[in-house]
Amino acid sequence: MGFLTALSRRRTLLLCLLIQLLQVTSWSSAWTQGAPRLRLSFRDLQTSNSSTVIIGSINSSSYQALLLDEDRGWLLAGAKNHIFLFHSDNLNESPDKIYWPAAKDHVEHCKLAGKNAETECANFIRLLQHFNKTHVYACGTGAFHPVCTYIDLGLSSEEPTFLLIPHLVESGRGKCPYSPLEPFTAVLTDEKLYAGTSVDFMGTNAALFRTAIQGSRQHYIRTEANQDHWLNDPKFIGSYSIPDTHSPDDDKVYFFFKETAVESNQWDKRIYTRVARVCKNDVGGKRSLINRWTTFLKARLVCSVPGPEDRDTYFDELEDIFLLETRDEQNPLVFGVFSASSAVFKGSAVCVYSMASIRAAFKGPFAHKEGLDYRWVEYKGRIPYPRPGTCPSETYDPLHKSTQDFPDDVISFMRGHQLMWEVVHPLNRKPVFVRTGAPYLLKKVVVDRVEADDGQYNVLYLATDEGKVLKVISIPKESWQSEAIVLEELSVFQKPTPILNMKLSTKRQQLYVSSVSGVAQVSLHRCDLYGKACADCCLARDPYCAWDGSSCSRYFPTNKRRARRQDVKHGDPKSQCHDIGDGFDDVEEKVIYGVETNSTYLECVPRSQQTSIRWTVQHPRADHSHELKNDDRFVYMEHGILIHQLETRDAGIYSCMAEELSFSHTIARYSLRVIEHEHIGAPPSRGGAASRVVGGVRQGPTPFGPSHLHYKDYMQLSISGMSADEYCDQIWHRTKRRQKMHNLKWKQALENRKGRVRRHPRTE
Ligand SMILES: *[C@@H]1O[C@H](CO)[C@@H](O)[C@H](O)[C@H]1NC(C)=O
Ligand SMILES: *[C@@H]1O[C@H](CO)[C@@H](O)[C@H](O)[C@H]1NC(C)=O
Ligand SMILES: *[C@@H]1O[C@H](CO)[C@@H](O)[C@H](O)[C@H]1NC(C)=O
Ligand SMILES: *[C@@H]1O[C@H](CO)[C@@H](O)[C@H](O)[C@H]1NC(C)=O
Repeated sequence: MGFLTALSRRRTLLLCLLIQLLQVTSWSSAWTQGAPRLRLSFRDLQTSNSSTVIIGSINSSSYQALLLDEDRGWLLAGAKNHIFLFHSDNLNESPDKIYWPAAKDHVEHCKLAGKNAETECANFIRLLQHFNKTHVYACGTGAFHPVCTYIDLGLSSEEPTFLLIPHLVESGRGKCPYSPLEPFTAVLTDEKLYAGTSVDFMGTNAALFRTAIQGSRQHYIRTEANQDHWLNDPKFIGSYSIPDTHSPDDDKVYFFFKETAVESNQWDKRIYTRVARVCKNDVGGKRSLINRWTTFLKARLVCSVPGPEDRDTYFDELEDIFLLETRDEQNPLVFGVFSASSAVFKGSAVCVYSMASIRAAFKGPFAHKEGLDYRWVEYKGRIPYPRPGTCPSETYDPLHKSTQDFPDDVISFMRGHQLMWEVVHPLNRKPVFVRTGAPYLLKKVVVDRVEADDGQYNVLYLATDEGKVLKVISIPKESWQSEAIVLEELSVFQKPTPILNMKLSTKRQQLYVSSVSGVAQVSLHRCDLYGKACADCCLARDPYCAWDGSSCSRYFPTNKRRARRQDVKHGDPKSQCHDIGDGFDDVEEKVIYGVETNSTYLECVPRSQQTSIRWTVQHPRADHSHELKNDDRFVYMEHGILIHQLETRDAGIYSCMAEELSFSHTIARYSLRVIEHEHIGAPPSRGGAASRVVGGVRQGPTPFGPSHLHYKDYMQLSISGMSADEYCDQIWHRTKRRQKMHNLKWKQALENRKGRVRRHPRTE
């Protein structure tokens, strides 16, 4: 082993320590507190057999549209120029595929217009919706010339036919965006497609459309164009058909989107999130608002963390919406993922809304602007009858059978009053989950309702722009509070890539996740990975898992055959497990030799990321052990403790204690023996090994201060093509091997010199 390579390895090891320190100090406590119990890399997931990734075809990409049929067991994925049919029990089986490219002249036109040939000028499938028992409606961007048609899947679930109907291909204008990148939403209900999309090449003319897709006449209704108070540069996120009352006349479609807010400060325009709705039976006005919505209303959806003196932190940009069905079909729970990013602040939050609070905003006062130089205020004037936004109903009022029967004053009021004055607040007026300072933003959400021993829990699957999925559980507490726990953080794809879509199959207990590169299938639970002890299983608080007497395994609420140990609410192993007697603390004591003035590293890897670690030391002649403070000399690391500039008085018994909830136990114990200088051949140079090695990075009184990390050191890491974490991982293992060798060497040396060395840290 050459001296130079040894030196450079040391340097990189120190660099790794620096990077870790830097990460710990720069990511706020909000992030570190919400550390996942299990963090599984792509490789961990593959080796535990709980995830499969499928690339539909090497000629495709951008798997944006997913459609799951739970009953028939298939998953459709819409991608570039292709639609794939996966058998959802086993994605591994090679999928059937339909090749549906854009017309050649449209591709040429698209390229001539300056669009990217690879990433824009193709048919990117954006929409897949159930049409009837046998057919799925599909739309693609068609190289900036959107097209739609039907896919015949037949009735058989074993052998679905999978055919595109070419003679039914029709224009996708008002149903599908022109661009593969434009945010978009659509829902097909009663043979009508409700879509939020733009209808021009530039993507500037965006509207909420309803198109009757059956029948030759392409009839549609839309929001008024070029009217900022209707829609102002909207980005559409979600749309759902939700009944409002028992009367079908009252059925509405709700849209979720974000837009530049007209009512915010005139000079500092901000993005707000909106919920909007229209009546399904809206057919437009008669004299005015012909083919325009006459029932379109919108309200602001707020997601904020309460702060002192009303200075809330707002997460204004909606990223995704998920509706969790409840027993009452009129009242699903609305989950929204929001982000906030500015020069000083970047973060994500999840807020939950009740339909009752959304409806309350639409029943409240309207917002009003008198004229160009006026501010938006609450409208206090007379409201015409029938109240604007009400769906026409013959049974309720025979004079107003249809929106074409609405009186002129209602129509003219609707022209200027789309915005409600009251905003919609989330349940408990705050997010259920917040993540700030993390290196990623949350982009997608799906929610599973899980039956556990002590009640029902909402398990949130949150997908990031870096290919990760967080599995988060929200635990209700006293007085409307709740606690969010990150159970798992899964790296679903090999390379960090934004997650584009997610679907959850409760029947198969699988999550389907898509990105630019492919579709992954991930099992909802991997109970055995929480650990081999009852306490580990119980502390995990995963509602899918319970201790069955011999292992941590899937919990089935109906299975009463055996006593199952589970405590999601408190995660208290003392109440659940009998195996946590003395045995649990019975860790082997390892002897470690260190050299005076050199550094030494004691390893301690907690099984869970949520445990907090405490180190204690008992010196040879001391009565008690005392806690080690994280300071210049004793540095708490993610996987252990680093002791700088060893002194002879540092000898002693070091214990690493893991604390989680109220449960504490020892997970590593070392007897550290310090060898004095005079027992070593070569005297160490001034400053000791640690700071000398840091020489390349620059010396200083605290060589581990983040400020000493040089840009070029980061560069070296990125050149090697590995992430800092992977790199450091490798270095740890090498260092550990060397420490072992070195321990052995010193043990022998000491034994040879028995009688001279009498500094045994253990009081015998
Ligand atoms: C994963 O599956 C492979 C092949 O089916 C099997 O050999 C292996 O033991 C499995 N691993 C685990 C951890 O279940
Ligand atoms: C990919 O495209 C090339 C040329 O267009 C074609 O020859 C090849 O068969 C395609 N491969 C697959 C897997 O579809
Ligand atoms: C579903 O719709 C397609 C397209 O209009 C039609 O050809 C087919 O007969 C319909 N199937 C059923 C079962 O209604
Ligand atoms: C301790 O540091 C000296 C130089 O400072 C070095 O020569 C020696 O190898 C180090 N000892 C160990 C065991 O790392």
